[in-house]
Formats: sequence, structure tokens, C-alpha cells
Amino acid sequence: MPKITIASRQLQADSDQCLLDSLLNQGERIPHSCRSGVCHACMLQADKGQPPAQSQQFLPREKINSQHFLACQCYPIADMTVSLPKSKPISAIITAIEKPESTLAVLTLAPRQPLSYLPGQHLTVSANERLSKDCYLASSPTAQQLTLYIRRKVGDPFSTWSHEIARVGDKIHLGQPKGVGIDFESMRNKLQLICHENHLAPVVSIIKHYCQLRPESEVILNCFFTGSEKPDIKRFFQDMTARYNNFSFRFLRYSTTKQITGIVSEASSGELIISGNRNFIANIEKTNIDTSQALKLLPIKERTLR
Ligand code: FES
Repeated sequence: MPKITIASRQLQADSDQCLLDSLLNQGERIPHSCRSGVCHACMLQADKGQPPAQSQQFLPREKINSQHFLACQCYPIADMTVSLPKSKPISAIITAIEKPESTLAVLTLAPRQPLSYLPGQHLTVSANERLSKDCYLASSPTAQQLTLYIRRKVGDPFSTWSHEIARVGDKIHLGQPKGVGIDFESMRNKLQLICHENHLAPVVSIIKHYCQLRPESEVILNCFFTGSEKPDIKRFFQDMTARYNNFSFRFLRYSTTKQITGIVSEASSGELIISGNRNFIANIEKTNIDTSQALKLLPIKERTLR
């Protein structure tokens, strides 16, 4: 059995169990959540020894090069010395706060140092020791500044802070980007997105990035809204059509599965990304749209991919 050293303690890794379970069973406190390689909460760093390749397959190149790996995907075959990654938070200044509608605050942030991320990734934002939240990034990774969409939610102190207290010039702290980002390098096709207005942030990041990266490919968004129509969100996407020639969108009332089928029935060719909560995604899956290869982006708490 391979020996694993962590914080000077030597433990046995059980090769039938992932390293996360081996460490947890022996009393180590390792952050974790999805157990399926998606959230990256269980990321560790190998200070000695080589992590198995499969434990690094969901990580960006720079993390692989620095010997990071996911404990939930790791079945050790050799001895390793491992540690929790030491990543310092990055400070950032709020440079703009907009409220396109009463329940949505859009924060623009200038980080003190460049942040490398992919569309579809999220990070922890902290206003102070007690106020923090995991948020999807809504900006293109090529933009100088970062964009966060914060929905006002009852019982969510960070959302209250963002809507009522935060001011331009305030300093906040950002964790390292997490989650499986979408690498568009191998994608060249038409890109179609189906989303609910409550889950726009990753979709906006994807649209901005893909429109720039593949100006020759069509990008079509079907954005569903519940309740009254949101003119400011509609105007936001209209502005994007002026900025990107290859982008078009439809703003649609979300009601019955039957209507969804009619409205988005042609959305079944090319790459497909669906963004919304589990119910929304389940309703799209009930239609005649082929969602078997679709990338599904859930809210961070419900998250899983493909
Ligand atoms: S717990 Fe390992 S990636 Fe989520």
C-alpha cells in the first residue's frame, strides 16, 4: 500500500479507495464537495511523488505543472507527500456597480494581479471574514476586469451587502478560480445556449469569449424569463448583438414544456449549453431537443457537468 505523508503524518492509502476517502477515514480534514472531479474543492498538491494522471485530467495546465491533483479522483500507486494548496487570496477593487434590475447587482472588479480562468469557472469572493460567496464569473477571460452577477436572496448576507452596502472603491478578496471551465480550443461549430434569466453569469462569460474566439461561428442564445419581462436584461443582450456580429438571442417567457419545445426545437444542432437549475434543465430534457451531449451548467450548489 502506498504511503501518504500529509502535514508530517504518515498514512496508508488504500488502493481500492480514492485518496480523499483514505484521508478522511484516517481523520484528515480535507475540503470536498462533489466527489466527481467537478468542484475542485478537494485539490491537493504533491510535494514529493507523482500524482496519477487520472487525478489531474480535469485541471488546467498550470495546475498540472505545479503537481496539483484532485484527491477524489486519485488512486495512489506510489508514495507521495501531499499538502493543501497554499493559494493567497487576490485583492480586487470594485470599479462599478450596476443594477440592471431590482434583484440583480453587477459588480465590476479590477484585480491587483491577472487572474487566469476559463468560462464556466467560479471563485470565492470575500468582502470580509464573515461575508463571502461562491460566484460564477460573467466576464470573458480576455477582459482586464472581472464581472460578477449577484442575485438578491433572502438569508444571503453577501447578496445584501452587494446590493445595499458595497460601494465603488471597496476592496474585496478573490479565491482561485474553481470548477471545470469550458475549453473552446477544439470547438468550432455553431454554439447554442438555452438558459434561465436567473442563471446568466456563466452564459454571459461563454458568449463573450466564444464570440471573440470564433467570429465565424454563430452563437445563439435562448434566454427564458419568469414573471414579467426584464427590459434591462433584454437591452443588455441587444447591446451584445451590436458588439458581436455572430451573436443573436431570443428572450422567451418560461412556461410550459410544450412551448419550450416549439420555441427551441431547432436548437438541436451544433454545440449546446444549458444553464439553469435542476428543474429548468429537466424540463429542457423532456423536450425533443437532443441534450445527450449538452454541457449543463447548474447553480454552484447544484453543480455537475455533462
Ligand atoms: S470533491 Fe473532488 S472535485 Fe469535488
